[in-house]
Amino acid sequence: MTRSNTTDTTRTPLAPVHIAAICGSMRGDRSYTRVALALALDSARNAGATVDLIDLSTLDLPLCSGPDDTDDNPQIVSLKARVQAAQGILLGSPEYHNSFSGVLKNALDLMGGDEFRGKVFGLLGVAGGSAGAVNTLGHLRVVVRGVGGWSLPVQISIPNVGRAFADGKMVDSGLEERIRFLGRELVRFTRLHSLVPELEHRLIEIIDEDV
Ligand SMILES: Cc1cc2nc3c(=O)[nH]c(=O)nc-3n(C[C@H](O)[C@H](O)[C@H](O)COP(=O)(O)O)c2cc1C
Repeated sequence: MTRSNTTDTTRTPLAPVHIAAICGSMRGDRSYTRVALALALDSARNAGATVDLIDLSTLDLPLCSGPDDTDDNPQIVSLKARVQAAQGILLGSPEYHNSFSGVLKNALDLMGGDEFRGKVFGLLGVAGGSAGAVNTLGHLRVVVRGVGGWSLPVQISIPNVGRAFADGKMVDSGLEERIRFLGRELVRFTRLHSLVPELEHRLIEIIDEDV
């Protein structure tokens, strides 16, 4: 059998990973969601990824009008290009009335399969109340399924936002470590996921050699 007799001394380099985070708050640099996403991205960068924080408050996106949307809006073109460049996507939103923000939904609706299909998603939600952002996370998970993405099992719900942050910084070290874990896991699974086509190819080669 060719497989067991061959010692392959060449190592395939780790696939480059680019992570884009989309922040669904319009509060700019006062947004706790944005602070939490920045922590996850910092962790992703430490794990070897390049990162991009897409703050929807800095964009001037039109409302999605479905089939009437055109491709000539530079804000949409830029948003799509930034998301398309990523293999892994982090979605973060404040919990608004038991769901994620309409601003984030509109941004997601302006995009589609070209930007999302087959990509790995991490989810993060921030809530004012003690129940946390579990509805935000559940609803985002359904939307990710709708666009053909893969959501990580691990997700972050930040409850009682007033206690978790002070002076624009996270002050709950346990929560910060979990957010950083999400960033690392997103890089790890995005990398593994990007190897799947190559592994499939190699598996077929091995099977062909065996027969
Ligand atoms: C319109 C609106 C609805 C909200 N609904 C909820 C809610 O259902 N549950 C909750 O825990 N907090 C709710 N909040 C509080 C936000 O989740 C909280 O302020 C969050 O930190 C905002 O995130 P940001 O700092 O990233 O903008 C609501 C806030 C607004 C403005």
